[in-house]
Formats: sequence, C-alpha cells, structure tokens
Amino acid sequence: MILSIESSCDDSSIAITEIKTKKLIYHKKISQELEHSVYGGVVPELAARLHATALPKILKETEEFFPSLKAIAVTNQPGLSVTLVEGVTMAQALSISLDLPIIAVNHLHGHIYSLFIEKQTHFPQTILLVSGGHTQVIEARGFNDFEILASTMDDSFGESFDKVSKMLGLGYPGGPVVEAYAKKGNMDRFNFTVPLLHSPKIAFSYSGLKNQVRLKIEALGDLSEQDKCDVCASFQKIASAHLIQKLKKIFKTRNIKDFAIVGGASANLYLRGEIEKLCDTHGSKLHLAELKFCSDNAAMIGRYAVDAYHLEKFKEFDEITSSPKVTI
Ligand code: KG4
Ligand code: ZN
Repeated sequence: MILSIESSCDDSSIAITEIKTKKLIYHKKISQELEHSVYGGVVPELAARLHATALPKILKETEEFFPSLKAIAVTNQPGLSVTLVEGVTMAQALSISLDLPIIAVNHLHGHIYSLFIEKQTHFPQTILLVSGGHTQVIEARGFNDFEILASTMDDSFGESFDKVSKMLGLGYPGGPVVEAYAKKGNMDRFNFTVPLLHSPKIAFSYSGLKNQVRLKIEALGDLSEQDKCDVCASFQKIASAHLIQKLKKIFKTRNIKDFAIVGGASANLYLRGEIEKLCDTHGSKLHLAELKFCSDNAAMIGRYAVDAYHLEKFKEFDEITSSPKVTI
C-alpha cells in the first residue's frame, strides 16, 4: 500500500491506496473552509497551522496500515509553500521512521489522476483543468507526458468564482455558493461580455470579467437576494462560455476522442452540462472524476503514486523539499 498526503492549500488529506488493485483503502480530508471564510480567502499562515494539527490527527487513524506500506507519496508543488511544507515534513518523518521511499507528486498531475481513482489509467486524453490556482487545457499522452495547449493569462476560473463571491459577501470558497445562487437566477439579465471573444489567442482571461461584475454590483447599489442570484447566473454563464469558445477552437484543430474535466471547479454542474454538449457535437467521450474527488484530496495523489511506484519514480529524501515552482 501507499500512504499519500495532500496539503497544498486548505485541505488536509491522507489516503491509503493498494498498489496491486488500485483500491482506495482509506481516505480522509479535513477542510478549512469555515476558518478561512471570514477572511474571504485562504490565509496561508492560518492554513499551515491548521494542517499542523489536522494531519497528525488523520495519520493516527492509519497506523494499522503502517506494516503494509511500500512508499509515502506527498504533494510537493505547486501550492502555498508554507502549507506544502507541512505535508512534506510529515512524509520525510514517515520515510525515516518506517524506512520507506518517497514519491513526490505535482498537485496538477494529481488532479489528472483523480480520473483514475479505483480505475485503470487511461491515456491519451485532452483535459480541461479548472481549479482555484489554474485554468489549463492539457494534452495528456501518458505518465508525465503532458503538453499545455492553453492556460490563463491572469486569474483562474475557480478564483473568479471566489472573487465574485467575495464581492457579493457570500463567503469562501465561492464556487459552490455562486453556483447555488446562479441556479435561482436569471442568466440573461446582465450582458457581460465573453473575454477574448475576438482574439485569435487560445488562452483564458478572467480579470476583465471580474471587473465587469464589480462595476455591475457597484451600479446596482443595495442588492436584493434576487439581484445576487441574477449576477451569479449571468457571471457563471459568461465564465463558462469563455471556456467553451476557446475549447471549440481546440476541438476544431484536433481529433479529440477522449475529453476530461478535472480540478475543484469541475464540480460545477452548469459547466459540466455545457462541456457535455460540446463533446456530443464532436463525438467525444467525456470523462469526469467523482464529485467528491474534484476538489483537493489525497486519493488522487495516491493514485498517481501507484503508477509512479511501478515506474520506480522515487525521490531522494533531500530532493523533495516543497518548491513554489509551477510546472507540469
Ligand atoms: O482543485 P481545488 O480544490 O484547489 C486548487 O487546486 O486550487 O479547487 C478549488 C477551486 C476554488 O476556487 C473553488 O471556488 C472552485 O474550485 N470550485 C468551484 C466549484 N466548486 C469548487 N468553482 C465553480 N463551481 C463550483 N461548483
Ligand atoms: Zn487542486
């Protein structure tokens, strides 16, 4: 079995995955959403302190599996350096005390492997990664064989939901609450413009849309609940339309048989619906992770580690210090 640890942002999570069967034997996650909600976003130093208490608490529950462990996997980049180091230090301590090798996992690779939890690995796929930190389209050909076809030039898709939520005083994380408000709103009430609509660039941008929403909120003044629902619905429609417009260009130039959406924001059902339509039009099969594995979790880190273990992709103890470098 492999014990995997995730602490790149505001979720403390540990999983145990069986190497041979890929079965998820144990999985627990303690989210810090409530603690950060009052600040309207993640406070790194607070997050680090919360990991320092949550991770050992979860680890205690996994002690019975220690004799069966063959490796320790840990997210070491990208993420908040002060929170990554909590998981990395725990992995190093376990590696020394149990005499086990370490597998260092790029968080974004972990999100890709959320598609394969308790399943066989399936490549090639074209993947839309939408999280709080990233918005990318990735051509995934095999283990660590990833090419970025498009990425955001400023804010990410998930981050724009967080910012709209903050402007409306709806708390953090913004994604689920903005989606819930949007369900009760009129998506055609406000005509926000689709970012980069007339640009030939295959890239994303959310800062302009965020400003359009801010100006609309300021112009409305005192907002009723219905106003907030309508702002959320109109914003969500255009934020998704931007992804779809650029994806259409990518679908036109490639023969995409298998398409997937991963990352925390891939839980958005409106976006899932729009991408389903796009895939139907192009005869592509849509792959999705289970809703509970869309946001950050150690199960996806463990699933990546199973493939890394078979390929003997181990790191030396002193090679894995968390690094703020963002690579894929
Ligand atoms: O992957 P994730 O858990 O953490 C990062 O790696 O960043 O993604 C978290 C992001 C947050 O920005 C959150 O607001 C967004 O995903 N998110 C959503 C939804 N659920 C989470 N965005 C839109 N709609 C959702 N339903
Ligand atoms: Zn993530």
